[in-house]
Amino acid sequence: MKIAKFSRLGFILAASGSAVGLGNIWKFPYITGEYGGGAFVFIYLITISLIGVTILLAEMLIGYMGKADCVTSFENLAPKNKGVWKYGGFMAFSGLMILTFYSVVIGWIFNYIFKSFSLPNSISESESQFNTFLSTDITTQLAFHTIVFLIVISIVVRGIKGGIEKLNLYLMPTLALILIGIFFYALSLDGFSQSFDFMFNLNWDKLSSQAIIIAVGHAFFTISLGMGAIMTYSASLPKNVNLFKSSLIVVVVDTAIALLAGLTLFAFLFEFGSEPAKGPGLVFISLPAIFNELGGLGNILALLFFISLAFAGLTSAVSLLEPSVQYFIDRFKLNRVKATLLAGSTFYIIGIFTLLANTESFSKALTFGSKNFFDWMDFTTSAFLLPLGGIVMAIFVGFIMQKDRVKSILEPQMGRNSFNIWYFVLKYIAPLAVLFVMLNELGVISLTE
Ligand code: TRP
Repeated sequence: MKIAKFSRLGFILAASGSAVGLGNIWKFPYITGEYGGGAFVFIYLITISLIGVTILLAEMLIGYMGKADCVTSFENLAPKNKGVWKYGGFMAFSGLMILTFYSVVIGWIFNYIFKSFSLPNSISESESQFNTFLSTDITTQLAFHTIVFLIVISIVVRGIKGGIEKLNLYLMPTLALILIGIFFYALSLDGFSQSFDFMFNLNWDKLSSQAIIIAVGHAFFTISLGMGAIMTYSASLPKNVNLFKSSLIVVVVDTAIALLAGLTLFAFLFEFGSEPAKGPGLVFISLPAIFNELGGLGNILALLFFISLAFAGLTSAVSLLEPSVQYFIDRFKLNRVKATLLAGSTFYIIGIFTLLANTESFSKALTFGSKNFFDWMDFTTSAFLLPLGGIVMAIFVGFIMQKDRVKSILEPQMGRNSFNIWYFVLKYIAPLAVLFVMLNELGVISLTE
């Protein structure tokens, strides 16, 4: 029983807002740097247009037809064995797991917004500031994690229309404006042509099999696939929305922003002689030091950049919380306030442990085997839960739901040929490709070395 639905534009913005996140602006540029540039970008683009769009459309369809939280949607749509298929809704909780570290990282970004006017003098100073912050400054990190938690729940508690749609209506256009503005500035730098080369020159010799796996994994994460965020949003779609078009728009917006962010960051890096491969510290370490070289303009660029990053993070964070909130509302008949508090405090409390896992005092206690708790959360979700969610949805729509029902909705929207191609890829290519990547990431089979 939904009260208020998205408007068409609201849905597109909210789904794009979910997709465009830290993955685009923070992660995409640094993995592109790490895995060698052009050829990596190429593989990423192929995956996202073939497998990404295909499964995204399936996820939208389940939400649109199921009209409820993830668990109930699977239950509603399964022709038989409903009791088994409802477990497909497990994905409603993957978002909470992602949030336990996502919120902490948005907290770091908040901290950097305030640091925009006292930038470090060199990369090494920047690096030690970042590392000290992570390993010793528990109070500040906790304060910002708390603020992120409060912002996210205060949006989600207002519901789809009054909270999530509104947030995206303001933040997404602002985010786009800021990024395009910084991009135009980057365009004027000499480093831009080098950046362009780096991102689009197909240097196959640099492409490792590991890079392919990372590209596919990231394609999932970046368009918010496989954890019911898009599914839950789609349950609040107005009638007669073209799902096919919507999925294309979301993927195009997401990809455009990732490419824009990459081109911009690398232009700055090349201009000031840093190496592109700087790992996760690219945005938090290299960038502040580079902005510092630009004097007052650099302070403003830093401020705008970190604000846009925070916006991107927040619009994704609400989409990570909503699936579990909707679940508690539909299945346990909680009101929205209680449901939001329950789901919100779960990620907030576990998030404290992910935060502590990076600190000197607690890292020992919070390291299990090869990874600390923070990295385990990241790894478990992106290597296992998201791909699994993707496979489950592909199989569900491809093999379990009656073809006629699927066809009756999608064929008029996409035409006969595209429908047939989509259906084929959904059944036979996407699940196998994802399975292959998942087994690799989990180390069950090994393509690398
Ligand atoms: N897509 C977001 C990003 O690129 C992260 C995200 C939000 C996400 N919702 C999701 C990832 C759902 C997977 C599933 O940062």
